[in-house]
Amino acid sequence: MMERHDLHSLLDLGNLFILHQRERAVITCLRRGGVTTANVSSLRFLEVGCGTGGLLPLLTYYGASPDRMFGIDLDRSRIREARRRYPAIHFVVADAARLPLPTEGYDVAIQSTLFTSILDQRARRQAAAEMLRVLRPSGFVLWFDFRYNSPRNEKVRGITRRQITRDLFPDTATFFVSTVLLPPLARRIARASWLVAECLSLLRPLRSHYCALIRPRPTKPAAE
Ligand SMILES: C[S@@+](CC[C@H](N)C(=O)[O-])C[C@H]1O[C@@H](n2cnc3c(N)ncnc32)[C@H](O)[C@@H]1O
Repeated sequence: MMERHDLHSLLDLGNLFILHQRERAVITCLRRGGVTTANVSSLRFLEVGCGTGGLLPLLTYYGASPDRMFGIDLDRSRIREARRRYPAIHFVVADAARLPLPTEGYDVAIQSTLFTSILDQRARRQAAAEMLRVLRPSGFVLWFDFRYNSPRNEKVRGITRRQITRDLFPDTATFFVSTVLLPPLARRIARASWLVAECLSLLRPLRSHYCALIRPRPTKPAAE
């Protein structure tokens, strides 16, 4: 039986399985967006709702430059912890709906399980619009979040593919990867058999998350 404090432990094979699936999907989307070993260090990354670091530290393993990374979060204590853990990355306390950042300043704007913790639909739309505003013309949003409601947590709400494309990011081109075997199942199964967990992941309804690349469509030049 897993203790409560082990639920997100990285020394657990079940959690490792979930992280591997997330990372594969993230790399698939980054590559699809044109991120390569050759250009990753020159790109500017922003994570909105970064918590104590989010995906930003992972990107440093791929070669991204910490001094070109920016994380924002509403929670002051999480930002304090993020700064302590990753002193080379810039972290700021701010609201996703009002980013204190310049327009067209970033190549990749990331959100990882932020949107499912914003329950107000208007605030979600504002956060989505802000992420698009701060993107460079060639930039894209990297989305990672779950699509089902959590029976154990009323403070979060799953977001479907349709809600992403129609409500939050209309007028964008999208590429989706559905991933992550339902975490309670993944934790139990992958600890016993990695292979069985991989096989179960082939069943689409058992995959709980979407990883997506969201690119604004270029605006048409005004007619003469
Ligand atoms: C589930 S955590 C995800 C943290 C991180 N992205 C990760 O993947 O580990 C959601 C984070 O979103 C932050 N958050 C919620 N609403 C926010 C808002 N309106 N603006 C900025 N951050 C917000 C919370 O404080 C929390 O740190």
